[in-house]
Amino acid sequence: KHCFTKSEDGYLCCEGLRVEDVMNNVEKSPFYLYSKPQITRNFQAYRDALEGLDSIIGYAIKANNNLKILEHLRKLGCGAVLVSGNELRLALHAGFDPTRCIFNGNGKLLKELVLAAQEGVFVNVDSEFDLDNIISAARIAGKKVNLLLRINPDVDPQVHPYVATGNKNSKFGIRNEKLQWFLDAVKAHPNELKLVGAHCHLGSTITKVDIFWDAAVLMVNYIDQIRAQGFKIDYLNIGGGLGIDYYHTGAVLPSPRDLIDTVRELVLSRDLNLIIEPGRSLIANTCCLVNHVTGVKTNGTKKFIVIDGSMAELIRPSLYDAYQHIELVSPSSPGAGISTFDVVGPVCESADFLGKDRELPTPASGAGLVVHDAGAYCMSMASTYNLKMRPPEYWVEEDGSVAKIRHAETFEDHIRYFEVLVELPNYGN
Ligand code: LLP
Repeated sequence: KHCFTKSEDGYLCCEGLRVEDVMNNVEKSPFYLYSKPQITRNFQAYRDALEGLDSIIGYAIKANNNLKILEHLRKLGCGAVLVSGNELRLALHAGFDPTRCIFNGNGKLLKELVLAAQEGVFVNVDSEFDLDNIISAARIAGKKVNLLLRINPDVDPQVHPYVATGNKNSKFGIRNEKLQWFLDAVKAHPNELKLVGAHCHLGSTITKVDIFWDAAVLMVNYIDQIRAQGFKIDYLNIGGGLGIDYYHTGAVLPSPRDLIDTVRELVLSRDLNLIIEPGRSLIANTCCLVNHVTGVKTNGTKKFIVIDGSMAELIRPSLYDAYQHIELVSPSSPGAGISTFDVVGPVCESADFLGKDRELPTPASGAGLVVHDAGAYCMSMASTYNLKMRPPEYWVEEDGSVAKIRHAETFEDHIRYFEVLVELPNYGN
């Protein structure tokens, strides 16, 4: 079951509610519209797939950090994957159990690591200097850190280069040639470090589960080597990265179950606790960015639909040439011809497009138009470029009511940043 459906008379609905009706009842445009039950269903798909395994589902909160969504996932039993001190603070604020949280990153700061050590979250070590900082953090916090080695397995995830992370020349993780150095360093710091597992993350938008199999085989092999040196490690963290059906072609893509079944026997054979770090596959398809059409224009051979949403609210098409499905929320008037349009925003950049060469009925000004699969890496990557303030977020609840889950940012919010300016002391001269 999926939350966004077309009614028989041609209206786009979210959990049975017409998106057009929601548009008529909220004060700002564009806005993000989520389905809370869809978030639950996506989480349950992972939980069901993991039955029979010891596991932690660590939601990668970089994908979407709405506090209401985090609290909902936490109540369902989810853990959290964090890449900054503020993400860690937010996870704690949302009530996540720190022992189900994992702190990742290639540039973790000492003060962030101190917080992680104090709270007892798992830390993935990424480099030599990172290990130095983790040791210092453990001393400052007076606590041993539960450590996972982030190994860069050099498996090609076959995705856009900007979202590939586990290849040989990536900035993330450590190469296996250095494994022994790290094991020796851990052995030398028994008061600060407890090695508990190994981690890898291959990349994002992965649509073939063989890639996870290849990585898991390598990782289990490293775990065997690490255990052979007397380390008692229990955790295999295979990261996130499962892709979704952005194209809406109905093509069957691997599900969470397919992913888990691929590695299940390997994990059981070594008696491991499996950590996974999904972001996109938990949250992307639960949401649309809902926009109004401002107008339609033609230039040269191109036809454009200009909407009020833009690359400021949703940058993935501009940044990765990503495809996100676009459709109108209401049936078009009989006789409205289908044309090929670029769907663009009002931002002063030629890269400001939400979709290129889309076959759509010519919309009237004021019509509703959605960009699908906007739950992951859209609001969390939104900017205020051109002073397009960040949009509000709503969700449809189980009983069909609509609730605001984040206020719109306002012009007044922007002015407020300048209220407290103080002069800096005069350096130099
Ligand atoms: N774990 C680690 C260590 C990661 O770096 C990431 C994502 C995840 C888990 C979650 O991956 P997911 O399941 O969401 O694929 N902004 C890009 C995606 C960047 C992903 C960064 N790392 C996009 O919009 O496609």
